[in-house]
Amino acid sequence: MDTAQAGILADLPEHARYLEMFAIPGADKASALRKLARLNLGEQFVIGLGPALVRELGLPLAQHRAFTSLTGVGCEIPSTQTDLWIWSRATDPGQAMHAARTCQNLLQEAFYTTHLLDGFLYKTGLDLSGYEDGTENPQGDDAIAAALYAGHDKQLSGSSFVAVQKWKHDLNAMAALSQQDQDNIIGRRQSDNLELANAPAFAHVKRTAQEDFEPEAFLLRRSMPWANETGEGLNFVAFGKSFDAFEAQMRRMVGLDDGIVDGLFRFSRPITGANYWCPPVQNGHLNLSALCLA
Ligand code: HEM
Repeated sequence: MDTAQAGILADLPEHARYLEMFAIPGADKASALRKLARLNLGEQFVIGLGPALVRELGLPLAQHRAFTSLTGVGCEIPSTQTDLWIWSRATDPGQAMHAARTCQNLLQEAFYTTHLLDGFLYKTGLDLSGYEDGTENPQGDDAIAAALYAGHDKQLSGSSFVAVQKWKHDLNAMAALSQQDQDNIIGRRQSDNLELANAPAFAHVKRTAQEDFEPEAFLLRRSMPWANETGEGLNFVAFGKSFDAFEAQMRRMVGLDDGIVDGLFRFSRPITGANYWCPPVQNGHLNLSALCLA
């Protein structure tokens, strides 16, 4: 799918820098975005626009909506929506930083960074809890069907809707549990990643089993661990053809379907949450033709 930002479907990089940015009121956002569109994104960048910005730039994109905060059974899901999201993907931390700075410089007349986070690959793609993350991700054509816009509007073909949540772990709380209790939280065995035959109803993979939703709720998850002076956790990133699958899963995780809360909340909780639309590309450059950038 050559109209999709290549970093969406590519494997996880070894290092990343995530930026979330707000627009400066009254600034010329169109001009800044045109500068950003000069960049060849390759697999190095994935870029998403927030719903208020898209609306201001004149695109009536009905499927785009702000991340909604949720009150679950004993757990809060916050919304920290911003205007722009940049995922800088690299083989080393310096490269991720320099690439992110390139974007910041191109955008500086109209956008400022409100949240910066560095991510990294842990071993072969494990969450910091030690469990493999991404096993049940759709592959090939199924990944395209799950992650990319499926409507008839040609200008939107190749675009994607991404939900981003920074989860903060309590790794000591997880480590204090027996191996069996930890495996029950995820619903898989840490030692060999096998799905537990009798996983409890609160097990994460039971809560989120993609084919158990009506309609089925497939997502392309591209999350990466983070760790800094404020703690550690997972930067959860899920691309969808819309936000419907993510929202259905989130509601079930927090117990709004049946009162059963996902075991993940025993050692982790989200501290941010935002939705972005990732525009299509043309020859590797952001294709902003659907927006009125006059
Ligand atoms: C702390 C945050 C999270 C952690 C550590 C985590 C970890 C995991 C792990 C270890 C698996 C099993 C392997 C796999 O198939 O990837 C998994 C599966 C999955 N997770 Fe998460 N996850 C987190 C948050 C979320 C959120 C917020 C959602 C969606 C709202 C989600 C959706 C899924 C889905 C759809 C699956 C595959 C289920 C299936 O069809 O078998 N996860 N996650």
